[in-house]
Amino acid sequence: MAAALSAFQPEGRILELACGTGLWTRRLLPFATTLTAVDASPEMLALNAARSCGPPQVRYIEADLFNWQPDGLYDTVFFSFWLSHVPRERFDAFWSMVRCCLAPGGRVFFVDSLHEPTSTAVDHRLPQPEATVLSRRLNDGRGFQIYKVFHDPGELAGRLRGLGWKFEIRRTAHYFLHASGALLSL
Ligand SMILES: C[S@@+](CC[C@H](N)C(=O)[O-])C[C@H]1O[C@@H](n2cnc3c(N)ncnc32)[C@H](O)[C@@H]1O
Repeated sequence: MAAALSAFQPEGRILELACGTGLWTRRLLPFATTLTAVDASPEMLALNAARSCGPPQVRYIEADLFNWQPDGLYDTVFFSFWLSHVPRERFDAFWSMVRCCLAPGGRVFFVDSLHEPTSTAVDHRLPQPEATVLSRRLNDGRGFQIYKVFHDPGELAGRLRGLGWKFEIRRTAHYFLHASGALLSL
């Protein structure tokens, strides 16, 4: 998927949503004139800064994306393994927020999981594609339930089209989807 990101050619003022520990932040940096990374977790932001060279190259914002008001315009908005955690009832509002972030001509790239039974840990079982809650057990034995919705690429592209976006969504061989798009021109 790194190749798909390179082919997409992110550019300019890049905004990474739900940046996590920085697996992608460091890949975005070489393309960026500025890079802003948002996450709700201070621990994640600290790990991200350690991994991806941190400020001032990366501007970090600690915020809940469901309440965050974008503070400027961006040429590229990127998020990985985030959309599948956006509850269905918050989907439209999330995309409105992305729309507010985009500079004229701006583009979006995202990466996420496909529903693939072999993609989960050996002691986990993937529920049916229509399920929205997944159990996760940590190495220390603690168990959690997380919100996770697996999007079908065709349905997702259709839903986004209904919100005014044009996306090309591709599958990798097994586990992932990646998508590039922009607002439909009027
Ligand atoms: C599955 S991780 C993906 C991290 C990163 N994008 C990656 O691909 O490695 C989801 C991230 O979303 C963040 N997150 C969860 N809820 C959030 C919220 N409401 N607002 C902002 N970030 C949130 C978590 O802290 C975590 O870093």
